Amino acid sequence: MAACRSKVSSVFRPNLFKDKVAIVTGGGTGIGKAIALELLYLGCKVMIASRKMDRLQKAAKEMKTLIDSQGRGSASLKHVECNIRKEEQVQHLISHTISEFGQLDFLVNNGGGQFPSPAEGISLKGWNAVIETNLTGTFLCCREAYTQWMKDHGGVIVNIIADMWRGFPLMSHTGAARSAVDNLTKSLAIEWAEDGVRVNAVAPGSSIYSETAADNYGDTDIFKRVLPNIPAKRLGLTEEVSGAVCFLLSPAASYISGETVKVDAGGSLYPSWTWNIDDHKKSVPYSWETDDNGSHTPPKSKL
Ligand code: ADE
Repeated sequence: MAACRSKVSSVFRPNLFKDKVAIVTGGGTGIGKAIALELLYLGCKVMIASRKMDRLQKAAKEMKTLIDSQGRGSASLKHVECNIRKEEQVQHLISHTISEFGQLDFLVNNGGGQFPSPAEGISLKGWNAVIETNLTGTFLCCREAYTQWMKDHGGVIVNIIADMWRGFPLMSHTGAARSAVDNLTKSLAIEWAEDGVRVNAVAPGSSIYSETAADNYGDTDIFKRVLPNIPAKRLGLTEEVSGAVCFLLSPAASYISGETVKVDAGGSLYPSWTWNIDDHKKSVPYSWETDDNGSHTPPKSKL
């Protein structure tokens, strides 16, 4: 179970998001919870949404207490159950938020899920579930936020993706889905620019620690294995992701759209740690050289 956080803070000025309204999917745990907390701390009204009502209720109560204890009383936090794979539930998430808060300025698509498996072991059902959650769910949330509100009033969308820049071995389904969301972000940034909607993405490294992420991997040692391959030689914090999200939502990013910001301390520039390739001789070279029988002969290795 996730440990309770004892403090919320922000580098951004108090009331930066006063009179703004945000939806954060997956806002009750991990990175989503940090984003929701920082937005609340900055005066934003926040709707958190996820599939599990009991978890949402518990998280909402804890978050309200925390914000109130920081002297930021009357936290405007509401929650709604929503499975982002279900079109009608997404439609309700957006319409309910607009009716509760009167507007919708920000959408943070953080809700997602996956399970580790080599590609060969992923069933069609498992593949479809991950694509539907991470790609289709994000698309539906974007489309409904746009058609129900942002088309007429403008707004800002931030899609949370992943460290899939070198492929995502053992997570090929979510790697494919997140990569698609990276591209979706660019398409929507162009299509909706004329309506005053900015669309960006944030790609947290796999080295961002949260108990939710640790549970998701089902491997308590995974973060120990990540560590040597992170240039910063430390794990990242969820609040180091929420700062980037708040920046992109803020007027400081008013000229940024269609961009993806990596929050990985340069980890994606450093060798991949997720998959080791043993020595083998199965890579067949192609060469223009032929032997006397006309067979192709590989060039002699210079090594
Ligand atoms: N988080 C993980 N899966 C989700 C889903 N299907 N809907 C909303 N939040 C989620």
